Amino acid sequence: MQAILEAKNIEAGYGDVVIIRDITMDIAAGEIAAVVGPNGSGKSTLIKSILGFATLFRGSVIFMGEEITGIASNKAVNLGIGYVPQIDNVFSNLTILENLDMGAYSRKGKDSIKASKKGILEIFPELEARKKGLAGNLSGGERQMLAIARAMMAEPKVLLLDEPLASLSPKPSAVIESKLKQISKAGIAIIIVEQNVRKALDISNWGYVIVNGALVMKGKSTELLADDSFKKRFLGLEQEN
Ligand SMILES: Nc1ncnc2c1ncn2[C@@H]1O[C@H](COP(=O)(O)OP(=O)(O)OP(=O)(O)O)[C@@H](O)[C@H]1O
Ligand SMILES: [Mg+2]
Repeated sequence: MQAILEAKNIEAGYGDVVIIRDITMDIAAGEIAAVVGPNGSGKSTLIKSILGFATLFRGSVIFMGEEITGIASNKAVNLGIGYVPQIDNVFSNLTILENLDMGAYSRKGKDSIKASKKGILEIFPELEARKKGLAGNLSGGERQMLAIARAMMAEPKVLLLDEPLASLSPKPSAVIESKLKQISKAGIAIIIVEQNVRKALDISNWGYVIVNGALVMKGKSTELLADDSFKKRFLGLEQEN
């Protein structure tokens, strides 16, 4: 299948410090890839390096067949790479509708923006119900929904989400999981960084395991979950959560 986003042999970090080495991954439309691994292993650094938020020392990034290595983060968003950071991902002092408008800041065409907003609020009726309220008054799960909805306002082809389920209790977490599946089925590629290995592999098609900055395993999520050495080595990580 044609990849929407490919990261090849990525070496990245901060300043002159290398954090991740030789990581290759790709994602196709309608698929979910999970990047899992222990605390501090370099999961966030991988997605930040694709978006220009971390230093990319080596490797290449290809988006829809075109090389975009070293692209500035605002340009990546304009091209169709959506990003939902781990924290501070909504504007608390703005309303839900204003947050959604912020997500479309680089788009032109009032009617198409309005149409996107309508479609996105259909996926998130929880937000529709409170659209004139301040984002700061939302629950953790609703905030995460708003962060995802805002990223979708830029019409992404691929969404990179950094721990969208972390700190959520089981019920809101399950709601977000089902929204992500729905968004993926609509043809958007999703890369999700997640510490909870079992949960991440349950919702994804592909799993990438990063330990100490290196890719140690990758494969179909169902196959990883069934693999004895994987289970022994990585499902124990769940105890950290
Ligand atoms: N802005 C930064 N400047 C310098 N070092 C950083 C920066 N951000 C992260 N690091 C370091 O890079 C390493 C990997 O961090 P990263 O955030 O990518 O890990 P992670 O796998 O996402 O961890 P977590 O599960 O805790 O989110 C850590 O040692 C961290 O201290
Ligand atoms: Mg992280």
